[in-house]
Amino acid sequence: MKKIGIFYGSSTGTCEDLANRIAGKLGVPAADVYSADKLTVDKVKDYDVLILGSSTWGDGDLQDDWYDGVKTLKSADLSGKLVALFGCGDSESYGDTFCDAIGVLYEHLKNTGCTFIGNDVSTEGYSFSSSIAATDGHFVGLALDDVNESDKTDQRIDAWVAGLKSSL
Ligand SMILES: Cc1cc2nc3c(=O)[nH]c(=O)nc-3n(C[C@H](O)[C@H](O)[C@H](O)COP(=O)(O)O)c2cc1C
Repeated sequence: MKKIGIFYGSSTGTCEDLANRIAGKLGVPAADVYSADKLTVDKVKDYDVLILGSSTWGDGDLQDDWYDGVKTLKSADLSGKLVALFGCGDSESYGDTFCDAIGVLYEHLKNTGCTFIGNDVSTEGYSFSSSIAATDGHFVGLALDDVNESDKTDQRIDAWVAGLKSSL
């Protein structure tokens, strides 16, 4: 059984709530769900699978708690690790940078030797004009808009988690 750790960056609690919901659906214990500012190289070593989430702030930026977390991830050995990304944003007010933080995490990690899973989420059903997390009709992780489309969140998480389970 692969050990899963979930790390989230959240300013007002939305991404934290989503991290906990994803944990619940994957059967990940609460003790393995952390704010991104708790990330250490030793914690990275503890897990086979890292599920990393961030809300998007500013103009397409990572949430602040990822500031040191990204450095930690890049200094850790991620070869052999499975990495899944998720994030939340607001596609109505920030349609040009919707869930960009997922794409920022992806750019930081794509050359670290990790293997991405859950990285073929169709953009169908979303309304946004641009996102660095999306190419060719697919997000590189699970994009959620709990501000405008909270009614779709459970269904989106369920589909993504089912895909993750088949990759584990
Ligand atoms: C000042 C500000 C800037 C934001 N910038 C973006 C953005 O560039 N892209 C996006 O998708 N959402 C953006 N959002 C929306 C937040 O990501 C959204 O409210 C999210 O649910 C917050 O999650 P959190 O509580 O986990 O931090 C922004 C919100 C605010 C208030």
